Amino acid sequence: PIRVAILISGRGSNMQALAETVAAEGLPVEICTVLSNRADAAGLDWARARGLPAEALAHRDFASREAFDAALQARLDALAPDYILLAGFMRVLGADFVRHFDGRIVNIHPSLLPAFPGLHTHQQALAQGVQWHGCTVHFVTPVLDHGPIIAQGAIPVQADDTPDTLAARLLPVEHQVYTQTLRWLAQRRVRLGADGRVAVADIPHRAWAG
Ligand code: GAR
Repeated sequence: PIRVAILISGRGSNMQALAETVAAEGLPVEICTVLSNRADAAGLDWARARGLPAEALAHRDFASREAFDAALQARLDALAPDYILLAGFMRVLGADFVRHFDGRIVNIHPSLLPAFPGLHTHQQALAQGVQWHGCTVHFVTPVLDHGPIIAQGAIPVQADDTPDTLAARLLPVEHQVYTQTLRWLAQRRVRLGADGRVAVADIPHRAWAG
């Protein structure tokens, strides 16, 4: 099996979808930790109730971003995950951390990248007037929200959408795209190539419409 660490900051619905898919489908995936940078993340309670290893590494306990990154790196090195899956993890990881785990960090971002990196993506999409919105699963590189794209899911924008309605309609598509990515990783059918591009085996399309 592949070992995965899932990093969260809050609710953890993507983490839950990943963990439920592993259990329901018997995927060859070992979740070696669910780790939050906030001790009060609701997702940690869910993980503990499910018997998953869950822990907090509170960024507030560290004097600097570098110190937090170093502690997180040391903890993850001890667990030796094949992949680190960012699932609503709301801390920016520094370039040293990202290079250390080169090709092994995957993130889900709630927009059709390269549109709308950063925060408040649903608000950005509505302000821009785009008619399709979506989510992107990508390998993490040192440039925030700019890594090579593994898969995307899209939803049409409706005339009366608000940031909240858009987010709610996108969420199940996020779960679908991230769980499919985990299947591919477990089957070793997707990886970050030496040329910095995503390399796939027998995957005809990596796009969904919700
Ligand atoms: C998800 O919508 C995810 O795409 C987003 O946070 C939410 C977490 O929800 N991630 C980011 O904004 C990353 N910058 P969840 O905790 O229920 O998975």
